Amino acid sequence: MSVRSVFRASHSLPKGDSFAADVIAGLGAEPKSVPPKYFYDLAGSALFERITLLPEYYPTRCEIGILQDNAPAIASMFPPGCALIEFGSGSSRKARILLSAAATVEAYVPVDISGDFLQQDLAQLKRDLPHLTVHPLVEDFTKPFAIPGDLAGLPRVGFFPGSTIGNFEPHEAARFLRHIGAVLGPGSLLVVGIDLVKDEATLNRAYNDAEGVTAKFNLNLLARINRELGADFDIAAFEHRAFFNRAFSRIEMHLLSTRRQQVHINGVAIDFRAGETIHTENSYKYTIDSFRALARGSGWSPVEVFTDGMFSVHALRAE
Ligand code: AVJ
Repeated sequence: MSVRSVFRASHSLPKGDSFAADVIAGLGAEPKSVPPKYFYDLAGSALFERITLLPEYYPTRCEIGILQDNAPAIASMFPPGCALIEFGSGSSRKARILLSAAATVEAYVPVDISGDFLQQDLAQLKRDLPHLTVHPLVEDFTKPFAIPGDLAGLPRVGFFPGSTIGNFEPHEAARFLRHIGAVLGPGSLLVVGIDLVKDEATLNRAYNDAEGVTAKFNLNLLARINRELGADFDIAAFEHRAFFNRAFSRIEMHLLSTRRQQVHINGVAIDFRAGETIHTENSYKYTIDSFRALARGSGWSPVEVFTDGMFSVHALRAE
């Protein structure tokens, strides 16, 4: 095993977070899995951007439509002079829709561990909304973090778009909602995007696009493990699988080994049976009521919901 392969850390991970250790632990377990956060290296992030433009992948388009159609109604709930705190923002595209409709927002605080905020987007946002303070924070938004001193006194509105919460197990999602409540404080508003349960064909199509971009996105995980950890995955011997698991109300993504094979990572041998899979992602889907129940059980009162029947944007108030 080479020194390079062990010590080359990802640009997008916090110190102390170990890609190698997580991959070896996940592939050593039964059933095998790798956490979905590792999809997003440079190539993976670019592939995800392409996914959001696919005709089959409705969530991004639907959420943007809902935000555009309801921006004045959403903005009217914001307290004057507030700070809009976005959890996990790579691009400010969705926040911009709200910020353009909410003239009284004082500060926009996107929080992301990767720190690769699209600086161009933020610069353009400042030009378009000159009254707005833009203060990106490079923090792990799943952990407690401090709001900068000069903004700490402002009323807070949270924004968590994209149905990213669907990657969490429901009990983890509940814990995360409690954590957001602790960061924002009692009485704060949270605007959160949640993908909805719907007919299986539409869900399955969204994760099995005709162009095969989602397959590339999934398989890039193996390419990344080869690149960064010096592993020897034969990527041609794995296939993308994605399906709606109704019992769990989630899309599951897997990488299926088409034959019996052995792979080496950092000197560790991993055996695959023919047909065995690596579980790479869960994307939980909620109904409006099931998400509201989750929110209620996690310290939040539902205030309003905006939906097009495909996707939902919830406004919640911290108890
Ligand atoms: C970014 C987690 C919301 O679950 O739909 C898209 C990721 N995976 N296609 C989702 C994803 C495959 C996406 N989230």
